[in-house]
Amino acid sequence: MAAFLLFLVTSLGLVIVSSSLRACSNCGDFIIPYPFSTNEHCGDKRYKVYCKDNSLEFLSATGTYYKILKIDQSTNKLVISPPPMLKNTCYSSDLFKGGLLLDESLPFNISTQNTVMLFNCSDNILQSPLNCSSNSICRQFEQRVEEGSGCMDTLCCHYLKDSAMNSHKIRLRLGGCTAYTCLVGFKVGDPLETWNYGIELQWFPPDL
Ligand SMILES: *[C@@H]1O[C@H](CO)[C@@H](O)[C@H](O)[C@H]1NC(C)=O
Ligand SMILES: *[C@@H]1O[C@H](CO)[C@@H](O)[C@H](O)[C@H]1NC(C)=O
Ligand SMILES: *[C@@H]1O[C@H](CO)[C@@H](O)[C@H](O)[C@H]1NC(C)=O
Repeated sequence: MAAFLLFLVTSLGLVIVSSSLRACSNCGDFIIPYPFSTNEHCGDKRYKVYCKDNSLEFLSATGTYYKILKIDQSTNKLVISPPPMLKNTCYSSDLFKGGLLLDESLPFNISTQNTVMLFNCSDNILQSPLNCSSNSICRQFEQRVEEGSGCMDTLCCHYLKDSAMNSHKIRLRLGGCTAYTCLVGFKVGDPLETWNYGIELQWFPPDL
């Protein structure tokens, strides 16, 4: 009996040790859950994230780093920060990389909880199912948020990025739209003070 208990305790210990070996250590105050990997000794390499100066970052297919704001392991979702707009312009910092583009061979996509605002768009965007009316929430962003002031009086639109849309990119280009920002979990009528800026991504767990 005692031998059996000892066996149980040791093997339980092994299970705990081997799973904690695979999770990476914290990045600053960020707890990194498995399968995320900050280096080759932990996590799963398809879920690479980058720890720089205690800040955690996500790399897009075009080589752009986005700051990670939150990881929710219980829902397999993480939130990255929309890229900053360059001062006194209506250009997102990833404009010349074509906006946000996720590597389609990796187990991430853009979730359906995102309301995207696009700025400085050309007229031909009006054909798509976007809300570009004068009461679109993008107007509030231009008029009331410092960062959006460079986009004042440009054609802007917003839309819910639902499952009918490409779940690997938010596209920008000169002659298309040149800046964007994004809200997670926005509901019609939510006041600007309560907006939750971010781009929510979803990951598929690895087969264990
Ligand atoms: C556009 O968005 C605003 C703000 O959410 C809303 O009040 C309006 O009804 C929308 N217009 C259309 C055409 O969907
Ligand atoms: C993202 O991937 C998940 C898991 O495969 C899938 O259920 C979901 O529909 C995808 N989301 C979009 C917006 O395509
Ligand atoms: C808006 O986009 C055009 C190109 O499509 C660009 O030439 C112009 O500088 C942009 N405006 C601002 C305010 O950034």
